Amino acid sequence: MRTNPKVGLLGLGLMGSAVAAKLLRGGLELTVFNRTAAKAKPFVELGARLARSPVEAAGGRDVLITLVANDEALEALACGEQGFLMGLDEAKVLIDMSTLTPGAIRRTAAAALARGSQMLHAPILGGPEAVLSGRATVFVGGPEPVYKRVRSVLEAISEPVHYVGDLTSGTLTKMSTNVMLTHLLMGTISSLALAKRAGLDQMLVLETLSRIAGVNIERIGRRMIEGERKRTFSIRNLVKDQHYFYDTAAELGIDLPTISAARDYFIRAADRGLGEEDFTALYSFMLGEAEEGQ
Ligand SMILES: NC(=O)c1ccc[n+]([C@@H]2O[C@H](COP(=O)([O-])OP(=O)(O)OC[C@H]3O[C@@H](n4cnc5c(N)ncnc54)[C@H](OP(=O)(O)O)[C@@H]3O)[C@@H](O)[C@H]2O)c1
Repeated sequence: MRTNPKVGLLGLGLMGSAVAAKLLRGGLELTVFNRTAAKAKPFVELGARLARSPVEAAGGRDVLITLVANDEALEALACGEQGFLMGLDEAKVLIDMSTLTPGAIRRTAAAALARGSQMLHAPILGGPEAVLSGRATVFVGGPEPVYKRVRSVLEAISEPVHYVGDLTSGTLTKMSTNVMLTHLLMGTISSLALAKRAGLDQMLVLETLSRIAGVNIERIGRRMIEGERKRTFSIRNLVKDQHYFYDTAAELGIDLPTISAARDYFIRAADRGLGEEDFTALYSFMLGEAEEGQ
């Protein structure tokens, strides 16, 4: 691929706009398309070319990036009237950077391959601000030689860029991290709401959480991965704590749905005889349940 590849970008929502800004800032020649054409105006003013259809955005490009809301949006741009699939050929690489299901990724890759074009799926962990400041993480799945050909384009968007394996590995890696982010979101909401309702210093609670969260994830996660069995805190006491947290918050008028769900899960583990085990045994409990369910 040439040193300064020509890039087409479909989707100028919050994320697509940040990616467009980064590609232009990196000096790449960019053609953009968005269903709502007005959103392209600022990028045209910065030097991007405006395509009137998805297929036109793919024309003459080395790399076509799609960054849209969901599976249905990608399908609409791929297969709809003037869909981009018609503009693909063996000279082009398709990179989808949206958060999609593995099924949609596989279907799009197969359709691209039928046109002779290889596809990578490279979802982004981090929002528009992280992309603009170069702090977003990109997980890339797909054929490694193809990744090596287009790596410079991905690195122009943000770093680090991690090559993680086959086509759907990027989305599965991102989902694995996003699951924790959902818990962090609900945890932050729950802790701050409880602190506010109790009339406490919310900033003290927030600062404490910020200081200990990363360290604890690292320490506890490592013990789980490495299978360390040392008993530090029993599941029996963990159940007791969740009862206390939930009931105390309820008395203050705060519902803690994730604490209630976690408590029920811990009770299930205790009922299977794990009450006296260390709380890290919940990790193998979850994997064991997954195996039983297969
Ligand atoms: N925002 C974040 O913090 C963040 C972070 C990481 C990953 N993501 C993922 O990145 C992707 C884009 O997110 P976003 O925040 O940029 O979303 P967004 O602001 O809602 O933008 C969605 C984009 O998809 C287009 N679109 C939606 N439905 C369509 C359809 N039926 N046909 C054609 N185009 C359609 C929209 O076009 P219009 O402008 O015409 O509506 C727009 O360009 C999503 O998969 C999201 O989960 C987002």
